[in-house]
Amino acid sequence: MTPNDAFDMVLFGGTGDLVMRKLLPALYHQHRDGNLPKSGRIICLGRSATDTAAYLEKAHGLAKGYLGSDYEAAVWDEFASRIHFLRVDANNADDYKLLADTLNEEQGRSRVFYLSTAPDLFAGISENLAKVDLNKGNSRVVLEKPLGHDLASSNEINDAVARFFTEQQIYRIDHYLGKEPVLNLIALRFANTLLEPLWRREWIRDVQITVTEQVGVETRADFYDKTGALRDMIQNHLVQLLTIVAMEPPASMDGDAVRDEKLKVLRALKPLSPEDVHTKVVRGQYRAGAINGKPVPGYQEEPGVPAGSNCETFVALKAEIQTWRWAGVPFFLRTGKRLQDRLAEIVINFRETPTSLFGRTHTPNRLVIRLQPDESVRLYLLAKEPGNQVRLRPVHLDLDFKETFKTRAPEAYERLLMDVIRGDLSLFVRRDEQRAAWRWVEPILDSWENSTEAPKPYNAGSWGPAAASALLSRDGVSWHEES
Ligand code: BG6
Repeated sequence: MTPNDAFDMVLFGGTGDLVMRKLLPALYHQHRDGNLPKSGRIICLGRSATDTAAYLEKAHGLAKGYLGSDYEAAVWDEFASRIHFLRVDANNADDYKLLADTLNEEQGRSRVFYLSTAPDLFAGISENLAKVDLNKGNSRVVLEKPLGHDLASSNEINDAVARFFTEQQIYRIDHYLGKEPVLNLIALRFANTLLEPLWRREWIRDVQITVTEQVGVETRADFYDKTGALRDMIQNHLVQLLTIVAMEPPASMDGDAVRDEKLKVLRALKPLSPEDVHTKVVRGQYRAGAINGKPVPGYQEEPGVPAGSNCETFVALKAEIQTWRWAGVPFFLRTGKRLQDRLAEIVINFRETPTSLFGRTHTPNRLVIRLQPDESVRLYLLAKEPGNQVRLRPVHLDLDFKETFKTRAPEAYERLLMDVIRGDLSLFVRRDEQRAAWRWVEPILDSWENSTEAPKPYNAGSWGPAAASALLSRDGVSWHEES
């Protein structure tokens, strides 16, 4: 950080869950690590607190819980002195004068407006900021997902924000892009010569991207039931991971160079016909079961879920990329709630050896990039067991980030917030990328809407509906944890 990185960060939805659970803890960590310039202010907006003291009392109680053993009273006190609360109703244009007066006390710093609110407020907030000239100069606006529920509604929101902010000022956040192993995958691919010649259809048999959760819909039934796993996870997080795996080497690490390459992948995704949706996409919904031995209710029994809901809590699908590099290589994506384990990983399965010198067919080589719960890269090779006989066994080379680097890996939001403060757009989703991602998932949404078929049930605590395994076995493969 340099003195030029002086900033004011304004958090809309300042009393909401994301700010309390993720954003303030992320800023606390960066403060503790000495990465925030001393003068940087955090201005939290909302209606449910009365003043800064009342706000901090609430924030302190929650932060203590979320920070766990990283909480230190003295550090918190110092950090809290950056926080100011303003009672601002995002819908009320008059309230923005108070915000402008507070921000105008300081000049020459970047201004970050983080819209941690429902997306239907984005247009109004942008307009209200413009009315008091807060969209000018070094202002940036961060948009949280979900940005719309289909292509048309996302276009509408993007158009409305674009009336007041340029694309260079707009940071569409996808927190999966800030996860340390994802950045490491970029380094692994483009800082080493070893992988690049192998990173193509001639050597890779299939790619699997899995993000599974043990939690159910928790208290978010109202939001989730209108959203479902396809919009909540696939359209953004998993498709973004796919672009990182599949993109061509960018000419530089400049924001637009990277995003241009990701966009090419999105545009090369093979469109899904209604018939494809039927055969290549599995939609599931959890019923009662047990997680870690503890009984949990089914989705339909969760508080707030309407009776007979067809909302999907699980999706598995086969994507194909029509490029010279990837033609014929299936990319399997899978995500769901109330599954056996919390797991996020990218698995690259290499092809089998052309001849089998050592008898029966052995497990082909595999590269596993683990994002959660631990962060690691593991390369599976075959080696000979010691002894007189030639017997092969899979062994693995491990890169465990925690063990190797012995430093704390920053949380995704820490990294991304620092990027916004510095003005680095490379890990944020550009509008054309978002449009292409919506365009690709829309046939799935349409097919489901016109279908009378209910999602396939699966027991909470399982790995999802049996159809998800069948989807892979048709290509002669199985999910990583099942093989
Ligand atoms: C969010 C989704 O974007 O990502 C949630 O809305 C999901 O439903 C969450 O639980 C998962 O994020 P993470 O980082 O905990 O894997």
